Formats: sequence, C-alpha cells, structure tokens
Amino acid sequence: MAKVKITETVLRDGHQSLIATRMRTDEMLSVIEKMDKVGYHSLEMWGGATFDACLRFLNEDPWERLRVIRAKVKNTKLQMLLRGQNILGYKNYSDDVVDEFVRLSIKNGIDIIRIFDALNDLRNIETAIKATKKYGGHAQGTVVYTISPVHNTEVYVNLAKKVQDMGADSLCIKDMSGILTPYYGYELIKELKKNIDIPIQLHTHCTSGMTDMTYLKAIEAGVDIIDTALSPFGLGTSQPPTEPIVATFKGTEFDTGLDMDLLCEIAEHFKGVKDKYMQNGILNPNVFNVDTKVLSYQVPGGMLSNLMSQLAQANALDKYNQVLLEVPKVREDLGFPPLVTPSSQFVGTQAVMNVVAGERYKMIPNEIKDYVRGKYGKPSVPISEDIKKKIIGDEEIITCRPADLIPPQLTSIKGEMKEYYEQEEDVLSYALFPQVALKFFKDRQAAKYKIDSELVDKEQKTYPV
Ligand code: CO
Repeated sequence: MAKVKITETVLRDGHQSLIATRMRTDEMLSVIEKMDKVGYHSLEMWGGATFDACLRFLNEDPWERLRVIRAKVKNTKLQMLLRGQNILGYKNYSDDVVDEFVRLSIKNGIDIIRIFDALNDLRNIETAIKATKKYGGHAQGTVVYTISPVHNTEVYVNLAKKVQDMGADSLCIKDMSGILTPYYGYELIKELKKNIDIPIQLHTHCTSGMTDMTYLKAIEAGVDIIDTALSPFGLGTSQPPTEPIVATFKGTEFDTGLDMDLLCEIAEHFKGVKDKYMQNGILNPNVFNVDTKVLSYQVPGGMLSNLMSQLAQANALDKYNQVLLEVPKVREDLGFPPLVTPSSQFVGTQAVMNVVAGERYKMIPNEIKDYVRGKYGKPSVPISEDIKKKIIGDEEIITCRPADLIPPQLTSIKGEMKEYYEQEEDVLSYALFPQVALKFFKDRQAAKYKIDSELVDKEQKTYPV
C-alpha cells in the first residue's frame, strides 16, 4: 500500500466553508513558501467561490492571486475547483469560453483542475476535461456523492468508469454535504479501486461529525489522496484538520510523509488569521456545530441558512420544519438531483414556495422550469409525466448536451468590455461576473489614475523645474 497523499484546502475550501471565502492574498503570502516545503500532494487555492469573492468583496484580481502564489510555490502542485460548463459562475457557458478559461488558468499556474457537474451529467464536464488535457494540465474528473433510492455503488462505479474513459487523470468523489458514512465509504472506495486504474481522491466535509472516521476507512480501502484543512480552518463545515490526520498515519503503511514541525508553524499563522475573522464577526461559531439534519434530510449546511432567510423574508419562520420535510419530496419529484450549487438553491426555493403557498407547484421559480426542460442536463432518473406537466405543460424537453445550444460567446464578450481591457484574463472575469467585474475594472482604472498623479506630484517636488 502506497502512502496517502494530502491536498491542503486552507487556501480555498477551508476559508470558503468557514469565513465565506474572505481570506485575502496577503494573509496567504507570508507562509506560502513554508507551505511549499511541507510535502503536500497539492494546494487547493483557486476556483470555487474564491474568484467571485476576490472581485466582489476583496477588490482583488483573482488572476493576480494565482500568479503571485505560483511565483512562490516552486515544488507543490496548485489545484482548483471548476463547475464544468458553469466554469465558476451559475449558468452554462459556450465551449469557447470554457476552453479559454481553462487555457488561462493553466497559463497562469494551475496544475490540477477538479471538474464537476452538480447533476453528474458527464456531458457537462467533457469540454473542460478535454481543454485541461489540451493545455497540459491534470484533469480530475468528479463524481458527486449523494444518497437516494436510485444512487448505489453500481451507479457510482459506472460513472467513475466513464470519467476514466473520458481521459481524466484522476477521479474525485465529492461529498459536499459530509454524508458519506465510514463503512459505506470503505465499500465504495474498494469497489472503485477494483474497477478503475486512475488515482482516487476523496473530498468531504465534517458537517455531520463522521468524517475523520470516513477518511480512516477510505484509506484502509485504498484511497490515494484526501483533502484536509490546517487545523485553524478545519472541522465544522470544512474538512478534517491536517495535523491530526498526519499524526494518525505516521509510522504506518499509510504515512503521509508531511513535515509536522512545519505544519505546526504554518497553523500558528492561520490561527492568527482565524482570530481576526472571529473578532470581526465573519466567522460564525455555529459553523462548528455538528449538523445532524444533514443526515436526516440530506440538506447541506449552506442550504439550511438559505432556507431560513427565505422563510424569514416570507414571514413564515414557523414553517421551517414543514419545509425541511418538503425538500426530500421536491427532490424525489425532480429525479433525485444531488443537492449542490446550483440545484441546492432551486430545490430549496421550490420547497419554500410549496409550503408558503399552501399548494404544491402553484408558484415555480424559472430555474426549476429550466431544470425540467433539461437545460441543466439529465436528472438521475426521468421526471414523471405528471410533474413535468405541472411545471412546464406541453413544452419539449432538451435531450442534447445543454451547451450544444449555446453559440460561441467569446468574441461578443470581448467586444462588450474592450474599453476596460488590460489583460486577456479580464475577458473571462467579465464573462463570469459582468457587473462585479465592471465595478472592479472601474476601481482599478481610478486607482491607477490616482497613483499616476501622485507620482507626477512627487517628481515635481523632487525635481522642481
Ligand atoms: Co467542498
């Protein structure tokens, strides 16, 4: 048995899960060279919500974050998370935009791209996998884990085989809600190892309180790589903490080989960062509660708080338990989609509407209509005629890959933002988050003008004419 490899998530999922993705680049840079010396398999530090958060909340260029980290990380692979045809946004993009995004991610320093689709419709990850290979990156194909009467080991093994056949370099089992149990996790990894040859990485969250045990059993079953977050940004809704995992396997056949002294030094730094977000209120201590609702209702943590705020807006917080019971029913009606962005949002909204309106499917959000039309891809099981009729009447359903209906977009996007263009990466920032990027570009121009005029001032003072 080979030693277990570790992907460190403190720079992406760790802070995305605990402090709403607010960690700044300067809070990463002072320890990044130390992190490069630990012996990690990879550092997950980009993609997911970091791109949006950089532009929207931090006034940082996400591309610049990638470049400055790459410049300091010489030995360790840099990894990102990509939502297939959604890239890092919330809708499907044309193939030329996906291809260009992947090209520039790799050009600026990404080594490994983890690519997933919320519905496990593998047609939605095909373009991104091909592009990653084309530009010399490591394409990690992903199977999203969920629990339903139609999801079983056979389904997962078949999906994994298809991911391997698509040319992926490795497979990720992504358990975004932390519902994979230790013994089933063992069985699943054993079966996957029997059926595919590419390395298998397990990604999960501590939400339900079982995850350290799940990692232990998955490692005994032969999983190759696991995701952990340094202790200040581990546990709760994040990943298991890195240091105890490293200590657990030290001296065994699974020894991770990571430098424990360095890990402790780096953890000390991130403890300071965590304290700052604790003090300014961005870190809500509730994220560390063990959430057992996720086990009974399959509702991931982030979705619970969304449901609460929707109910509060409708002045119907007393209906919370009814909504929780409605979520699995809506999910069944819709063919058991895994609950991850974006399906978690629209299933939740429909459940709230069904309860608040007092009649099921009286009000229907557009996203649900598009989902039933097939615009997000194929559901895990076909939706019944009855439900289909209720939601979209006699409309036709799309059976092709949804992105086949989207003509190339890159040229027109370039045209729209050309007056702000400073680097080719700007086109992609604009493509994903037009309003947010535009504001960022304008601020950037204004700041530059200010710096320029300050320089002129200084020169005039130093060298008076
Ligand atoms: Co995650």
